[in-house]
Amino acid sequence: MHGVAEDGNAAIDGADRLVGHVRVLCDRFRALPGIQRPGRHRVNCPGRPPWWTLWLPGLLAGCGGEMSILDAAGSAARQQFWIWWAMLGVAVAVSLGVYALWFYTFRRREPPPRTPREERRIMLRWVLGGGIALPVASIIALLVFAAPTGRGMLPLPDDGAERIEVIAHQWWWEVRYPGEEGERDVVTANRLVMPAGEPVDFRLTSTDVIHAFWIPRLGGKRDMIPGRYSSVRLEADSPGVFGAQCAEYCGAQHTHMLLHVEALERGDYDAWLAERRPPPGPGEGFAEAKEAFGEHCAACHTVGGFAEELVDDDLEHDIRGPDLSDIGSRPTLGAGVLPMEEGAIAYWLQHHQTLKPGNRMPAHDHIDTETLQAIGAWLETLEP
Ligand code: CUA
Repeated sequence: MHGVAEDGNAAIDGADRLVGHVRVLCDRFRALPGIQRPGRHRVNCPGRPPWWTLWLPGLLAGCGGEMSILDAAGSAARQQFWIWWAMLGVAVAVSLGVYALWFYTFRRREPPPRTPREERRIMLRWVLGGGIALPVASIIALLVFAAPTGRGMLPLPDDGAERIEVIAHQWWWEVRYPGEEGERDVVTANRLVMPAGEPVDFRLTSTDVIHAFWIPRLGGKRDMIPGRYSSVRLEADSPGVFGAQCAEYCGAQHTHMLLHVEALERGDYDAWLAERRPPPGPGEGFAEAKEAFGEHCAACHTVGGFAEELVDDDLEHDIRGPDLSDIGSRPTLGAGVLPMEEGAIAYWLQHHQTLKPGNRMPAHDHIDTETLQAIGAWLETLEP
């Protein structure tokens, strides 16, 4: 999260510098003879920047930050970055060409009279050249650029790359680290931890509607389709924190489907995984909270090592909610809705339908506040 503030500041610094330049230009303009005569010209040069610079901070903010494709942090993203610039360059060149022709039609003198045959030849030249040859050449040029990038993002069979499964739900992310034979998967939610400096194969699917997996600074995006697995290979150059966001409209809370991505050195990543295999248990104490959790929550949520006999068997067991085994160690709640801090889980349990309307966890109006606070206080302790 640190990176956001710094990059945001960089964007704001850039905007300030530009506004500074604009102010200098304005001052020079005002110094021109005749400009300051009252009632003649109104030049808007106060301490505030002119209205037409208002879009600049927004534009410059796109050059940095944890969600910017223009700040590539991995090989796939870097290749996509160059495709992006190439496409922009071609689009600008084509636009300039079209505008130039357009102006030319206004300015040219009346052409000398042509025979129908000449007319036909000129027309054919434009249709064949501009309508067929130019698009075909552009598409081939783009393919030459894009095909190796696409190939680089394909998981090649069995070359030992790390494999991580990401399963999209309305509206949260389940992340699974498959264990070796006989080992349990490490399961977490809304937080993706990956090794840096090596390719990682992401296996993607969805349980309900189509979502899309997108880590802008590392590359992507890739649809997540119910009943089907798709794959993408991404690599982070070095350790860092990256933003990720569902990139396919998937319902009312699509915007609240953020994924916190952390790339760690290989050793730190192994240690992170080892801490969670087997999952951290439910801990000592908090007897009332555990009983209430068994009664109200355990039909959908799991906590590693939680006593099965505490689960109320009358509850329906067909909805899968996030695994909460390491919830205390996650940076956010509700897939990016609240920062994880003391009291946040209890607050979420009381207000989640206001904070994220329509999410599949029912409102807890029938449970008293003390019980929700006790459950929250216990869940906060769940970390390796
Ligand atoms: Cu999931 Cu949009």
